[in-house]
Amino acid sequence: MVRLTSDINNLQSLISANMLSMIGSIITFIFVWIYIFILNWQMAIAITITFPFMFLIYRIFRNRIHNAFRAARASQAQMSNQMQNTLTQIDLIKSYTNEEFEEQRFGTFANQNKQDMIRATQNQALFSPLIDFVNYLGTAIILAFGAYFVIHHQLTVGQLVAYLAYIGMLQGPIRAFTQILNQLQQSLVSYGHVMDIMALRPIIVDQPNAVPFPAMTTGVQLKDVSFTYPESDQPSTGTIPAAVSHVSFNIPFGKTTALVGHSGSGKTTLTKLIDHLYNLDAGDILFDGRPISQIQLQSLRENIAIVSQDIYMLDGSIRDNVRYGRSKATDDEIWQVIEMADIADFVHGLPQGLDTQIGERGVKLSGGQKQRLSIARALLKNAQLVILDEATASLDNESEKTIQHALENLMQSRTSLVIAHRLSTIHNADQIIVMDHGQVVERGTHTELLAANGPYAKLYNAQFN
Ligand SMILES: Nc1ncnc2c1ncn2[C@@H]1O[C@H](COP(=O)(O)OP(=O)(O)OP(=O)(O)O)[C@@H](O)[C@H]1O
Ligand SMILES: [Mg+2]
Repeated sequence: MVRLTSDINNLQSLISANMLSMIGSIITFIFVWIYIFILNWQMAIAITITFPFMFLIYRIFRNRIHNAFRAARASQAQMSNQMQNTLTQIDLIKSYTNEEFEEQRFGTFANQNKQDMIRATQNQALFSPLIDFVNYLGTAIILAFGAYFVIHHQLTVGQLVAYLAYIGMLQGPIRAFTQILNQLQQSLVSYGHVMDIMALRPIIVDQPNAVPFPAMTTGVQLKDVSFTYPESDQPSTGTIPAAVSHVSFNIPFGKTTALVGHSGSGKTTLTKLIDHLYNLDAGDILFDGRPISQIQLQSLRENIAIVSQDIYMLDGSIRDNVRYGRSKATDDEIWQVIEMADIADFVHGLPQGLDTQIGERGVKLSGGQKQRLSIARALLKNAQLVILDEATASLDNESEKTIQHALENLMQSRTSLVIAHRLSTIHNADQIIVMDHGQVVERGTHTELLAANGPYAKLYNAQFN
């Protein structure tokens, strides 16, 4: 956010405020310089000798100012980060009475930023007067030379005064120029930051021969799928374990496939792979026989509706949030899915109905209400493949039954993948896949798996006995 706001602002002020004046400065400088050579070449050479000193000073200060600003930017980003984190997690901080700890942490970053800014400003403040000093030294030299020429009648006092006035005109642009150089160091840091972002390219892009998502008739096929989450920026010790490895199963068309397994066994990861949020390490996912890599990304995601385990709500009205599933939906269609998701009573009861603002991340709603709205949103999308990741986890038994009914209606004609920890919700699935440590360990229907008395039976008995 710092890069997109204050870094861009920095660049903007360099370009808009300083560039125009710089063009004027350069033109003035060149003409005056030529003119003083015409007037008196000896004195012009004397003044020109001071220029390399200014350049030297610039070279010395350039890196110092640049580095100080870079450090200041970094600490500013940390400060913003910290602020955003504390504001969005204010309840957590209060419940764990960590106010003081967070205050101190923010204080550390703020202090660091203060110090970096002071260092940058000190360098800037030293740089300009030093340049001025060399400038005035130049004036002094001219005065000395001029006095000599006047005494020897090679120059009139009037000419000397005029010459000094021209030197003054030369110094104005130099001063403006050093100010721009000062600002330039700051802006170069920002420029680097902005360019870093501009250089980012999405890893997942459409192949040239990509085709739209097919109208499915057979279903989705996972073939020997393996995937490990990419390493984070921090150097890690040891290798990261694969999130899923050698997973193969079919999600038959028009049927409900359930995915169960211990926490961390790779269920959500599989949904992300099916939505092509990550590239596979090995194996393939086929939609009616078409490899996922050859399907247009946008078309793929348009045809998959996911109710994810982490519920995402936008700051806006209930209508905005549901319509996010399909931007052209009418209010009638929105009410229809709200009805199906069993949240119509709640919305009807609100004085502003669909226009009710739900707050940042939906803070004004209960967990179950958010979940039902996210189901409504997915229903509205009317996609070929429906993925429900713990979609009924924060609902009470009663509303779960109602929604279950609605979802069953929805899923009847659709291909669906349902993830649930509460095994009661997936009794009726056409097929149950049991995962453990990123691998498929068992598959079958509820009755078959119970009879087999394997991992599924163990999970099931743990819940019901
Ligand atoms: N974004 C990520 N980056 C790195 N590792 C991840 C990421 N998301 C998940 N993992 C790891 O991948 C493994 C599988 O996670 P996954 O979310 O698929 O589990 P899950 O079966 O959905 O669990 P749960 O039932 O608790 O939701 C876990 O070991 C987890 O730590
Ligand atoms: Mg999960």
